[in-house]
Amino acid sequence: IVVGLIIPAAGAGERLGAGIPKALCALGAEALLVHAVRAGAGSGVVTTVVIAAPPGEADAVHKLVAPDIPPGVELHVVEGGSSRRQSVRRALDATPPQVDVVLIHDAARCLAPAALFVAVADAIDAGRDAVVPGLPVVDTLKQVDETGAVVATPDRSLLQAVQTPQGFRRHVLERAHRAAEERGDTTATDDAGLVEWLGQPVHVIPGHDHAMKITRPIDLVLAEALIAGENS
Ligand code: C5P
Repeated sequence: IVVGLIIPAAGAGERLGAGIPKALCALGAEALLVHAVRAGAGSGVVTTVVIAAPPGEADAVHKLVAPDIPPGVELHVVEGGSSRRQSVRRALDATPPQVDVVLIHDAARCLAPAALFVAVADAIDAGRDAVVPGLPVVDTLKQVDETGAVVATPDRSLLQAVQTPQGFRRHVLERAHRAAEERGDTTATDDAGLVEWLGQPVHVIPGHDHAMKITRPIDLVLAEALIAGENS
């Protein structure tokens, strides 16, 4: 397999409230995006990296991450779109034709270890078409209506909180994105969901605590503690 890595990094990061795009926020001495690129591009399984950068930031992003792209790995940076799905789509269009397996990794999950990229790629190599890392949920989840009334309490033992990198055979991912575009999907928050919509199987493998998503200020506090622990 020839594996390409796509990093959607074009989000505004409004919930983090830093006033700059989340992927460019600092974690320790470096931007979130730099941490994400280092783990993914350095995992040894990817041959190309395509980043969807915040609007107007493509050149700056290219300069920012280039030092962490290992020799022999290609780097492309495109401008993202107004939704995560559009950002992934643009990056997919810029992915070189020889790539037949795509790993999609949110810049926001910047501490996902290299081993997780390897595990996802291995599962695809072993024959799965779509693979996502996931962990059991710790909270009890409630489905509510718009008034806040509880509609249902799904059985927690059947639920997994999924992470990235999510891996796909490229042809399956492209079909899923085309179908999503045709129906004008605006609700998708991950790529596996688009594949599920096609009725294609998606497989969950064990995720990793460090692949947590940095969304709110408290997540950044936890991530800072994790890297301080690693550097001590
Ligand atoms: O908003 P959320 O945290 O779910 O975003 C997940 C990832 O998708 C982030 O890495 C973010 O930068 C990216 N994204 C994007 N383009 C958008 C919105 C989000 O690349 N328009």
